[in-house]
Amino acid sequence: MWGGRFESEPAGAARDFTRSFPWDQRLYREDIVASQAHAAMLGARGIVSASDADALTAGLDRLLDELDDADGPDDVGDEDIHSYVERVLIERLGDPGRRLHTARSRNDQVATDMRLYVKGLTLRIGRALTDLMAALVDRAEPDTVAPGFTHLQSGQPVTLGHYLLAIQEMLSRDLDGCYQVFALADICPLGSGALAGVPYDIDREHAAHALHFSRISRNSMDAVADRDYLMALLNLGVGILLHLSRWAEDLVIWASPGYAMVDFDDAYATGSSIMPQKKNPDIAELVRGRTGTALGITTGMAATVKGVPLTYGLDLQEDKQALFRMEDLVLPTLGIMREAFATLRFDRERMAQMATAGHATATEIADYLVEQGAPFREAHEIAGRVVSAAIAAGVELHEVTDDELCAIDARLGPELRERLSAERSVARRDVPGGTAPRRVRLAVADAQGRIELERGRLRELAASGLPAALAPWE
Ligand code: ARG
Repeated sequence: MWGGRFESEPAGAARDFTRSFPWDQRLYREDIVASQAHAAMLGARGIVSASDADALTAGLDRLLDELDDADGPDDVGDEDIHSYVERVLIERLGDPGRRLHTARSRNDQVATDMRLYVKGLTLRIGRALTDLMAALVDRAEPDTVAPGFTHLQSGQPVTLGHYLLAIQEMLSRDLDGCYQVFALADICPLGSGALAGVPYDIDREHAAHALHFSRISRNSMDAVADRDYLMALLNLGVGILLHLSRWAEDLVIWASPGYAMVDFDDAYATGSSIMPQKKNPDIAELVRGRTGTALGITTGMAATVKGVPLTYGLDLQEDKQALFRMEDLVLPTLGIMREAFATLRFDRERMAQMATAGHATATEIADYLVEQGAPFREAHEIAGRVVSAAIAAGVELHEVTDDELCAIDARLGPELRERLSAERSVARRDVPGGTAPRRVRLAVADAQGRIELERGRLRELAASGLPAALAPWE
């Protein structure tokens, strides 16, 4: 199609090797909408006639409808989605179709399409994040005690709600990241041409405005070379999956027979082909596994970008696969974690047992001594001796006898015992950000309010930050 200077068609294998249509057809809506903005600008500036601009607008409208009905374009061998759209317009409209690519290059075109796509994707990810955050907050029980670990050793008792809100916090940082990536992508490269700008009296603000970009790019070379917004999106995706993967790892452990604190619903677990007793936490394992895949995609794209001389090289065409593969990893993972979690059963009795197992309230003994004037280091030492005595006698901390306590330190009175329960231990951690049920109740209310605000903010960005035809959801 671009062959005036060529004497032969590309070899079939070369064509197959270089084409990107199989992936970038996913950009058809962005490509059509951006082409409409470009055509309208060309018409408004008199670079093409008003009737040509109208013909292009109508032709693109029709194509968009058809492709929506058909669930996207068929692959009939076009090099990429840009060539596809242009070819169809030329076939249908003749000369007006041949004028669409005036004052434009595929280099600024693809950057525009990708930025539009990334903007929409950040909002869709943001929405999935808020849904998962809401699911976590919904089940954040403030009064259920659970074990808290460091080094996967019994640490201190916490409340189940506190743990679930910790996951929610990680996701709320990811949500902040969505807005940051949105802002990074929110710059219109159209009008940069191949790399140097274009020799027509274009109105870049006109097209940018029609596409709901906040501003135009300042440098044409940077505009066609830049893939920072894409790397940011990939890093955002990896960050989300790293969070989900750590959570998934906890769930795998919690669901294992040794812990047995949670039980996946049958609909979200699978059996073994040979061991009839098995119930495997496959979803959680795949979340861990796919996080590795996502890391590979992100590292791979960074490796691709690092060697591309300014401005554009076809290496950058690989960005589509990275983007869409990341989309297909992140969105389904957020969705399935929400479903699997919403149907997860908690064994509260077992959690309570585990909450104090391993002498997990030993810190209480030290704190009790501090209240009686002992320096913390000394108190810690004495509490350690109580733990030793319990281990030697094979009992829990509250089962160490009064005599033994007194022998270890005269300040260890029997009233210490009631402080060694998990309930008491969590209730005393009543500081901002602490695990006390009172704090968790406040944190739940706070999180609920923030999630509602974020949902509104996402709706607002979806309405104002993208053309209606590219609305990220119905
Ligand atoms: N299909 C290309 C891409 O996805 C866009 C076109 C730029 N091609 C070129 N040879 N300058 O990046």
